Amino acid sequence: MTYTLTTPLYYVNDRAHLGSAYTTLACDAIARFQRLKGEQVVFITGCDEHGQKIQRTAEAAGLTPQAHCDLVSEGYRELWQRWQISNDRFIRTTDPRHRRIVEQFYARVEANGDIVEGRQQGWYCVACEEFKDDPHEASDPECAIHRKPLEWRDEVNLFFRLSRYQQQIETLIRQPGFIAPESRRREVENFVAQGLRDFSISRVNLPWGIPVPGHEGHTFYVWFDALLGYLTALLEPGDPYSLETIVERGWPAQLHVIGKDILRFHAVYWPAMLLSAGLPLPQRVFGHGFLTREGQKMGKSLGNVLDPAVLLERCGADAVRWYLLRDIPFGDDGDFQQQRFVDLINNDLANTIGNLLNRTSSMARRWFAEAVPPAGAAAERQHPLAAAATKACLRHNQAMDTLDFRNAAEAALGLATSANGFLNDQAPWSRMKQPGQEDSVAADLYAVLEATRIVALLLSPLVPELSARMLAQYPAAAPLSWDALLQWGGLQPGDQLPAPSPVLARLELEGEL
Ligand code: MSP
Repeated sequence: MTYTLTTPLYYVNDRAHLGSAYTTLACDAIARFQRLKGEQVVFITGCDEHGQKIQRTAEAAGLTPQAHCDLVSEGYRELWQRWQISNDRFIRTTDPRHRRIVEQFYARVEANGDIVEGRQQGWYCVACEEFKDDPHEASDPECAIHRKPLEWRDEVNLFFRLSRYQQQIETLIRQPGFIAPESRRREVENFVAQGLRDFSISRVNLPWGIPVPGHEGHTFYVWFDALLGYLTALLEPGDPYSLETIVERGWPAQLHVIGKDILRFHAVYWPAMLLSAGLPLPQRVFGHGFLTREGQKMGKSLGNVLDPAVLLERCGADAVRWYLLRDIPFGDDGDFQQQRFVDLINNDLANTIGNLLNRTSSMARRWFAEAVPPAGAAAERQHPLAAAATKACLRHNQAMDTLDFRNAAEAALGLATSANGFLNDQAPWSRMKQPGQEDSVAADLYAVLEATRIVALLLSPLVPELSARMLAQYPAAAPLSWDALLQWGGLQPGDQLPAPSPVLARLELEGEL
């Protein structure tokens, strides 16, 4: 079976910011983990390019909307490449194939009697591309998220009959695991309990969108079109543009990872649209939290936005991945603190993990002919580090399955800490000077090398480059299954150990990022 997972399709009104990088790198960790487990993964990301917000941004930049979208979406594509994001697809909603899929989908929904004409009146936030139910202030209301004035809209357009799906959506969101984490599920439950209202799916006088067939002057509402991008993305070159093919190619998604602000669209509107079109529903929607910086909301006006390109250049992808995935419980809001970031990287990655491998490998090479030492007693499964490794693998795998990156990171780090403790207790550097200790020193070094190899494997979905550098210091491993690679005893005594080199330079940051 295919494991399809998605990031949101990012608006091209602006360059990527740390929030978009956060979602993307979390998805990348999941995609890498699922591939290791042998799943056939389709990891989808891309850009959401229609709508008023984009049209206005392009106008302000003096570009045609298409030229503007080409420019910004290319920026996203390049950025993800530089971050070594392992996405299999990059969908743009201005892709001509997408229009065909939207038209087909719409035809199904219409044939199902779910499209009606209606009058839409209300306050609209262009930045959210969303009508706001009850703005707090009666006069000059502004968007609670963007702090920008809302715009009054009064137009006749096409509505999707969401209200017809009340019961099915209620049942769906009660299903364990459909919405995660639990706090987000309750949020959606409260929203649905107020009664679902039909929502408009077209706009008039908005040229930058996909035209609605049979309704001149109407273009599709950007969210209606954008969500369908997840479907179009599954088409492979040469495939017929059909919804049936999309199902064969891996729909439904196993997982949509999104930020909490776009939960309703994914957990309520989207499933109802799919039900209407007779397509299967995604398995899980995970809404992560928002990042702040040193306790403050990030925003252009505050001048404190963290640019992922700068972070990458100054700190490297792994440092940022480790900090965000290890320090912030996925699902909760999180705060980026520069000092804490530097401390964690240096303590966890440079000291606990990097030095451990370096010193163990150096000792093994020096005393045992530059090779993996004989395992002796360390071959036993009862060896304390063997037991610790088994526990760490189980914990890590369960945590990754539930997107609990923090716990997965701690499992790997915990094993490295145990290996460090073991090494310090055994003190091979002084025992090696005593006669008759060679075999037991060999066994101790074998055990630590083996535990560290497993640490490197556990780290691979989280910090892939660091993991690869660690594994490069081991004899080349046969490409076995992930389960086999994690087995204690995988390291073959006598195999040559390459010369050690530091796996991670300490992070020294001068000034603010
Ligand atoms: N285009 C829509 C998604 C359509 S999906 C079919 C959109 N795009 S977005 O570019 O505005 O937002 C992308 C993601 O970034 C959202 O999941 C949003 O929650 C996330 N974040 C935006 N700011 C964020 C933080 N400060 N912190 C964490 N994530 C944040 O919405």
